[in-house]
Amino acid sequence: METKLSPEKILQLGMGFWNAKTLLSAVELGVFDALADGPANLATLKSRLGLHERSARDFLDALVALGMLKRNEGRYSNTLETDLFLVRAKPTYVGAILEMSNARLYSSWGSLTDALRTGQRQSENKEEDDLFAALYADPERLRGFLSAMSGISAGPAKAIGEKFPWKDYSSFVDVGAAQGMVPVTLAQMHPHLKGGGFDLPEVRLFFEEFVAKHGLSGRVKFYAGDFFKDPMPNADVIVMGHILHDWDLAQKRMLLAKAFDALPKGGALVVYDAVIDDERRENAFGLLMSLNMLIETSGGFDYTGADCQGWMREAGFSQTRVEHLQGPDSMVVGLK
Ligand SMILES: C[S@@+](CC[C@H](N)C(=O)[O-])C[C@H]1O[C@@H](n2cnc3c(N)ncnc32)[C@H](O)[C@@H]1O
Repeated sequence: METKLSPEKILQLGMGFWNAKTLLSAVELGVFDALADGPANLATLKSRLGLHERSARDFLDALVALGMLKRNEGRYSNTLETDLFLVRAKPTYVGAILEMSNARLYSSWGSLTDALRTGQRQSENKEEDDLFAALYADPERLRGFLSAMSGISAGPAKAIGEKFPWKDYSSFVDVGAAQGMVPVTLAQMHPHLKGGGFDLPEVRLFFEEFVAKHGLSGRVKFYAGDFFKDPMPNADVIVMGHILHDWDLAQKRMLLAKAFDALPKGGALVVYDAVIDDERRENAFGLLMSLNMLIETSGGFDYTGADCQGWMREAGFSQTRVEHLQGPDSMVVGLK
C-alpha cells in the first residue's frame, strides 16, 4: 500500500509558485505581445524583451514546457490560448488580473502566515482599514485594479447575460461596477435594457471611457456614490459582483438591505462571486479567494450559497436560488 503512495502531488503544489511567477513575469515582460505578429527565434526575442544571456533560453523553454509557448525548429510562437488571451492589444486580453497579481498580490501573499496568525490585512498601506482608500490613493494602481476587475468579470458577465431572464426586466444597475464590464456586456447582449454602474466618484472617468469605447454612452450611465453613505440607484435588477466578499458580515447585511430598498416589488438582486460549495470542500478557488480577502481587506470573506441565501432572506427577499455561472463563479439570485 505505502509503496503506491507518491509525494508528487504535494511537491507540485508546494512548488507551484515557480510556475505562477514564470507566467506572471512573462506577462510583465510582454512575451506574448512580442510574438503577436508571428514566430521569432531566441536571439530576436532576447533582444525584443531585454533578457539577459543567462536567462533567455531557460525562461522561454520553461514557458514551452508549461504549455504557454510553442517552439518549432528553434522559433517560438504563442499557443492558441496565449495568443487570444495574453496579447494586450486584443479585446479578449485577460492578463490585467495577472499584471495585478504580479504587481501586488504576489508579494502580499508572501505574508500569508502573518495574516493567518493575526487576522490583519497584509497588502499595501496596512494601517488603512479600507482596501479601496489604500488602492485608489495612486491613479496608476487604480487603473490597474479596475482593468484587472474587467479581466475577472468578463466571463461571469457573459454567463449572467445568458442565464438570467433579462426579457422580464427593463433596467439594471451594477453596484461596484469598476470599469463597467458587466453593464457593457449586458447592454450589448440585450438591446432592450437600460443600464448603469454605481461606484466611487474616482471611478467615473475610467467607467465612462470604457463605456464610450464600446459605443454605449447613450444607454449605460454612471452613478457616483458611496454605498456606505448613499442609497443605491433604483432599477429592476441590481447586480453586485465581487462586492459582498470585500466586507465583513455586518457590512454584507447592510449592502443586501440597501439593495432590497432600491428594488421595486418583483425586482431582482443578482450577487455573484466565487461562491463556495455548501460543504466547503470543493471550490478551492472560492476558499483561496477568501484567504485573498484576508490578505487584502479588514473583514472580508467569501461565503457559501446557503450563507448568502440566508442573508438575503433576512433582508426580506422572498425567493432565492443559486445558479452556477462558469468556472468557480456562481450567482445567487433574490426576488423581492
Ligand atoms: C472587487 S471590485 C468588483 C468590481 C466588479 N463588480 C467585478 O465584479 O469585477 C469592488 C468595486 O467596489 C467599488 N467600491 C468599493 N467601495 C465602494 C463604496 N463605498 N461605494 C461604492 N463602490 C465601492 C470599488 O471601487 C470596486 O469597483
